[in-house]
Amino acid sequence: MPVRNEQVPDRNIAMELVRTTEAAALAAARWVGRGDKNGADGAAVDAMRLMLDTVDMDGIIVIGEGEKDEAPMLYNGERVGNGRGPQVDVAVDPLEGTRLTAMGRPGAVSVIACAPRGTLYNPHDIFYMEKIAVGPEAKGMIDLAAPVAWNIQQVARAKSIGVEEVTVIILDRDRNTEIADQVRAAGARIRFITDGDAPAAVSAGVAGSGVDMMVGIGGSPEGVVAAAALKCVEGDFQGRLWPRNDDDRKYAADHGLSLTDVLTIDDLVKGDDVFFAATGVTTGDLLKGVEYRPGGATSESLVMRSRSGTIRRILTEHHWRKLQTLGGMR
Ligand code: FBP
Repeated sequence: MPVRNEQVPDRNIAMELVRTTEAAALAAARWVGRGDKNGADGAAVDAMRLMLDTVDMDGIIVIGEGEKDEAPMLYNGERVGNGRGPQVDVAVDPLEGTRLTAMGRPGAVSVIACAPRGTLYNPHDIFYMEKIAVGPEAKGMIDLAAPVAWNIQQVARAKSIGVEEVTVIILDRDRNTEIADQVRAAGARIRFITDGDAPAAVSAGVAGSGVDMMVGIGGSPEGVVAAAALKCVEGDFQGRLWPRNDDDRKYAADHGLSLTDVLTIDDLVKGDDVFFAATGVTTGDLLKGVEYRPGGATSESLVMRSRSGTIRRILTEHHWRKLQTLGGMR
């Protein structure tokens, strides 16, 4: 009996997008510990850009490496993909954790998210965002506008654990001192990270990571990327744009961006058809980093799609000689 149309599985772009994060991670991993964050970032950008052209999609970068004049590739507004296939918004962070990579510290990843055109939030030039991220147990139970102690209690209740057993990840910055004090006063545990709050937020949604929530002020683009991943795992995320100074306030007013509204996960990533892929560069809570072996390397990636709820962990063996014959990768 012929299969009816609605029963035919459609394409999962994330399965192709993961090749872009693998390429970026492999390229960036060569720079681990070299003290050169721009070199590492440039290598990741070049590799991801090359591989993106193989993906069947008509993509526009909405979260990228900055504006065209300052970023030669993967700049906001750039068209990516081979132009065939679905019209999509693309958010990329070829190397999330440039300093982590340069210093050989844990937790650097390469990430990409993709969703139908017009569905990914664009924070424009407001660089920072207040954030809260939790896993599926606490979905619908958080509120960025409420005190952090209340949110911690909600997570503890959702997970049936004590408040003192809740582990909260916070980006170690002066601007987050106050919130860290509030987390301590609430009685929860803190894990400070020096960089990489996107994978940290995602780890709050992944069972077995040891992380229950992520709070604090970090990059806005990283917030949108984390929201995309948390939508795939049915976790929750809220953000609020955070101005550094009067210039940011004026910019927000001129561009119609609210600095008071709490942006829900559905404001940041509309609909339910987002694709996400990430590959580890250095080993962290979320993913193992690139490891070399004779003639090649192995990488670990997370590949997810919100509509199907599929979460794949992909261990890939890369063979330099064979990749070279295929062309493209050096
Ligand atoms: P880069 O990889 O671009 O260096 O970003 C790392 C990061 O730590 C993000 O994870 C975080 O959201 C942002 O920088 C925080 O910005 P800042 O370092 O200015 O506090």
